[in-house]
Amino acid sequence: MSFLCPRNSGQYCDATVGVGSHARAIIERSAPHGRVIGIDRDAEVLKLAKNILAPYDDRVRLVHAPFSQIRSVLEEAGALPLDGCIADLGVSSVQLDRPERGFSFRRSGPLDMRMDRSRGETAGDLLRRVDEEGLARLLCDLGEERFARKIARAVTRAREGGELNTTLDLAGLVARSVPRRESNKDPATRVFQALRIAVNDELGELDRFLQDAPDCLRPGGRLVVIAFHSLEDRMVKRRLRALALGDAVEPGAPRFRILTKHVVRASESEVARNPRARSAKLRAAERLPS
Ligand SMILES: C[S@@+](CC[C@H](N)C(=O)[O-])C[C@H]1O[C@@H](n2cnc3c(N)ncnc32)[C@H](O)[C@@H]1O
Repeated sequence: MSFLCPRNSGQYCDATVGVGSHARAIIERSAPHGRVIGIDRDAEVLKLAKNILAPYDDRVRLVHAPFSQIRSVLEEAGALPLDGCIADLGVSSVQLDRPERGFSFRRSGPLDMRMDRSRGETAGDLLRRVDEEGLARLLCDLGEERFARKIARAVTRAREGGELNTTLDLAGLVARSVPRRESNKDPATRVFQALRIAVNDELGELDRFLQDAPDCLRPGGRLVVIAFHSLEDRMVKRRLRALALGDAVEPGAPRFRILTKHVVRASESEVARNPRARSAKLRAAERLPS
């Protein structure tokens, strides 16, 4: 909130509204007239946000959409230009904690992993479609998994034997395929991350968001992005740098000022309260007058 600086009568977008904690903080800090458009591609999570944000429903509007469509969502809602926009990437605790969504490697569920369950291919569909070589590349590129080849081979064999149906089947197979364990990480972490990123086209979504969101801001408007792994954080860092310094993609005068010289991490006390914040990396920038 200290980077976003919500103010009375401002217009904000929470591009990953989740269950609405950030949106509520913005609404409270921009009282009495500030407004928030909350976007999420997960209809089930949006239902929870609707209840939580019900006391402020005259100042909040929720939209079921991928954030790659931010510009058209805001145009349709008549909400341009924005005073601030936040994106808190990845999956929400609600999604992780519901085994039936298939994101958790600790509890048994279907191999789904779609954030938007109304469309697209599930993780199970993807595992049935890709060949061993393609899967190894995917695990290596999106999960930075060292044992991608071994795991891809094991997956292909298990799939042929009809032994790969649930999240626990996959987690067990990964644990048996990797030779050595990292002490503080479940061996399935990277594999689940890679599949989730692929199923939801998370990098393509982020790329389109980072292209369009800056132009949705008025001069002085702020963009805040929280990433949870290095692939995303690298994209955010590069895009903000291009906006601030100009590059081949963004020639001409700088359009933004970077507010976070170094990436901002959660404090020890925040991580103690919320262990999932330990990998969060926040970056922010402000649009300059044109
Ligand atoms: C880390 S959670 C955000 C939690 C939120 N800040 C809160 O206060 O509850 C990420 C949310 O972003 C949503 N999401 C992820 N990628 C998205 C995308 N491309 N478009 C729209 N929503 C997305 C997920 O469905 C999830 O609810």
